[in-house]
Amino acid sequence: MLDKDIESVLISEKEIEEIVQNLGTKITNDYQDKFPIILGLLKGCVPFMAQLLKHLEMHIEIAFMNVSSYHGGMESSGEVKIDMDLGTPVKDRHVLIAEDIVDSGRTIQSVVKLLKYRGAKSVKVVTLMDKPAGRVIDFVPEYIGKTIPKAFVVGYGLDYEEKYRNLPYVGTLKPKIYLTEE
Ligand code: IMP
Repeated sequence: MLDKDIESVLISEKEIEEIVQNLGTKITNDYQDKFPIILGLLKGCVPFMAQLLKHLEMHIEIAFMNVSSYHGGMESSGEVKIDMDLGTPVKDRHVLIAEDIVDSGRTIQSVVKLLKYRGAKSVKVVTLMDKPAGRVIDFVPEYIGKTIPKAFVVGYGLDYEEKYRNLPYVGTLKPKIYLTEE
């Protein structure tokens, strides 16, 4: 039913599984015995983080934060707002932030800065997708699933006006979807 709104599939369900498995192996190697906090940025992180956790073979703690920058549309507002803070102290802890996509880099950079200010021992970022062409600041995530071109994508956690997060793959929308909804 949702498929009919999709112009093209950018990352298939099968490819996502391969990507996440590889990320899980790398992170497992790097974080053995470090008991990291895997910090998901809501809401987009949900499918990615749930799948990633299954591939982490060490003790971890999970936590969530809700920060917003896009406000449901297709362009970044340039502002980052904390809508829900994490409940776990990060002082002297290794934190790995799980993101769906890094675009301008503003959201993630402000969260990284905040966690370092709060005394985290280390702060790194794992993102399913990286969109370097959208970058307005200098930021490179430590773990990148797939680098994608500057296109607006939906699915696997990513939304357009809160819809399409439940698609099992990542794709682009047919222009008529956003042109008619303006
Ligand atoms: P940044 O602060 O510009 O890097 O934006 C990151 C956030 O914007 C992501 O966590 C997403 O919620 C949202 N975002 C960026 N690109 C897209 C996209 O192509 N589709 C849907 N949401 C996006």
